[in-house]
Order: sequence, then C-alpha cells, then structure tokens
Amino acid sequence: MKILSIESSCDETAAAVVEDGRTVLADIVASQVEEHKLYGGVVPEIASRRHCEAISQVVTSALEEAKTELKDIDAIAVTACPGLIGALLVGVNFAKGLAFSADKPLIPVHHLRSHIAANYVCHPQLKPPFLALVVSGGHTSFVKVNDYTDFQIIGATRDDAAGEALDKAARAMGLPYPGGLHMDKEAVGGNEKAFAFPNPKVDNSPYDCSFSGLKTSVINLLHNAQQKGENVNIKDLSASYLHAVVHCLTQRTEMALDEFGFEKLVLAGGVSANSVLRREMQKLCDKKGVQLFYPSLNLCGDNAAMVGAQAFYEYQAGHLADLTLNAKATCEIDNIDTILPLQ
Ligand code: KG4
Ligand code: ZN
Repeated sequence: MKILSIESSCDETAAAVVEDGRTVLADIVASQVEEHKLYGGVVPEIASRRHCEAISQVVTSALEEAKTELKDIDAIAVTACPGLIGALLVGVNFAKGLAFSADKPLIPVHHLRSHIAANYVCHPQLKPPFLALVVSGGHTSFVKVNDYTDFQIIGATRDDAAGEALDKAARAMGLPYPGGLHMDKEAVGGNEKAFAFPNPKVDNSPYDCSFSGLKTSVINLLHNAQQKGENVNIKDLSASYLHAVVHCLTQRTEMALDEFGFEKLVLAGGVSANSVLRREMQKLCDKKGVQLFYPSLNLCGDNAAMVGAQAFYEYQAGHLADLTLNAKATCEIDNIDTILPLQ
C-alpha cells in the first residue's frame, strides 16, 4: 500500500511516499529554520505563510522522487494534531483537497505517534509492545506502546517540554536556534559536574517531570554572573545543563523499565537526536538487558516519512477521516477519537 503523507505541524513543510509503513520511496523536507533563527524561535504566523508557499511544490517533488503519480497512491495521510494550529491547517486542508479530487481515503495522524513510527522506518524488525520516550520541542512523555495504535501515557512533563527547556536555556546562553542542537555541540568536552541543577519530583506521579525550574535556574545563574561582571564557561554550563535534563529522563525510564518489564525502549522526537541522551540511555539499556532504538538523525526532527509509517497502521485500524476533518492544536497521544468523524 502506497501512502502519500504530509506534515506541517511546526516549521518544516514535508511530504513523503511510504510503502506498507516501512519503505520510504520519497522524503522531502523544506525547512524554515534559517528564517525563524532570526527571531530566536518559531514565529507561528511566518510558519503558516511559508507552509502555504511551499506545500504544493513539496508534494509534487515527493511524487516525482517516488516516480509515482497521484492515481497510483492508495491513501493520503496528514498530521492533524497536535501542533501550531495555523501551520497544521495548511497541511490538513491541502490533504483534504487532494483526497477529494483524487477520490482517495484520508488518514489523520497524531504527530507524536508519527515520531514514534520514525523508528519503524529505521528498524524494520521493531514491533510493539515497547516503552517509548517522546522528547520534542513541545512534548515530553513516557508512553506504553501496547500496539501500533494502542498507547497509554504513564508520565509527562508538568510544564516545559525537554526541547523547550533546552531551547530557552540555550537562547539565554547566547546560542542560536534550535538551541537543543547547538547545546549538544557546545557541551562536547565541557565539564558536566561544573554546575548543579535541581531534579524536581512530582508527588504521587513518579513518571511526571518538570523542567521549568531547571530553565529558570540557568537564566538566574547567567543574570547573576552578568550583574557581577563574571564570565560563565558556556561549554561547562551546556554540559552540566544537558546532564541534568538527561538525568531526569534516564531516572524515570529506569523506574518504568523496572515496573513494567519492557524488553525494548524507543526514543522519539527532535531531542532523540541528542548525543548525551543516546549515550546515557544506551548505558541504562546495557545494564538492564533492554534493546534500545532511536531514529536516524534525518528522521528525528519533523518529516513526513514518519507520518506515512504511522498512517499505514492507522489505516489498518480503520482510523479514517472524511472531509469534516479539522486540525487540533492539542490532543493526547492516547485519544485521537476527537479528530475522527463521529460514528
Ligand atoms: O520533534 P521536533 O523537530 O519538533 C517538535 O515536534 O517539537 O523537535 C524540535 C526540538 C527542538 O527543541 C530542538 O532544539 C531539539 O528538538 N533538538 C535537539 C537536538 N536536535 C534538535 N535537542 C537536543 N540535541 C539535539 N541534537
Ligand atoms: Zn515534532
């Protein structure tokens, strides 16, 4: 089954053609990152406008790269939630138009489900059940993936996402957007023990985490140093901060592996590109005898190949939309009923 998939939830306009959920025939990503860099973060209004300009060409390029015509596509998939509402609407409306004009089934896909599915493309042998850690710019959750379309959140951030905490702290340190990526590079060779950061716990919710205190403490540290005219070693600060964020994640992952006994751990989302996170999770998995999976670097960030991968399983589960499909800015990974038509 060949699926044409579209992604426009944040600042990448992407289209792909994926066969049977695992084989990528085309994967086109038009990134807006250089423009958003000027503002130190994603400007939603600019993102929506650039999606409108790029989407038609990006979809055409995906079909060309796959050496396929629209008539030979079996279904159209699109990220329908969660994300920036104006950005999502561009992809959703474009997909609805294509599905209507070419008379193809329309598959709405949850963005975080597709981040997890990036691993199906990279690891053909990977199958649920497994424990997934979804760490992106907007989300941080520990998820039991019982089956391809059966998810259960066991913990999540109570405030900032891990990626957001990295991006905001990096901006305060004077590093460019996207901050997580630049902090990863800056931290190489830095002393992770140079600065101590809090590791907040949430009462009665062992898998929940909180990053806003960490972010505030790095901002306060930089302001205090500035007021005293002291220099801060940004390499050491990056290494210590990353260590603190990663420690919060590995600690909870270890507890979850112990409690639920999963044999596989899957990392997903933009922050799964992080070298410290990968290294520390590998150490943990080696200790526990657990298999670790994460996507190749080109599939960690937003792309449409992962949308086509998850869409294949949503189609098999009968999760199809009609032309009443709307985008949603927020929607939990274990509750996509709200984007499906009323039965
Ligand atoms: O999944 P993604 O592309 O977009 C969302 O769905 O949010 O994730 C973007 C996030 C940003 O916070 C960015 O700083 C972070 O992923 N990121 C990284 C790295 N590369 C991207 N964070 C840490 N280390 C990296 N190498
Ligand atoms: Zn994403």
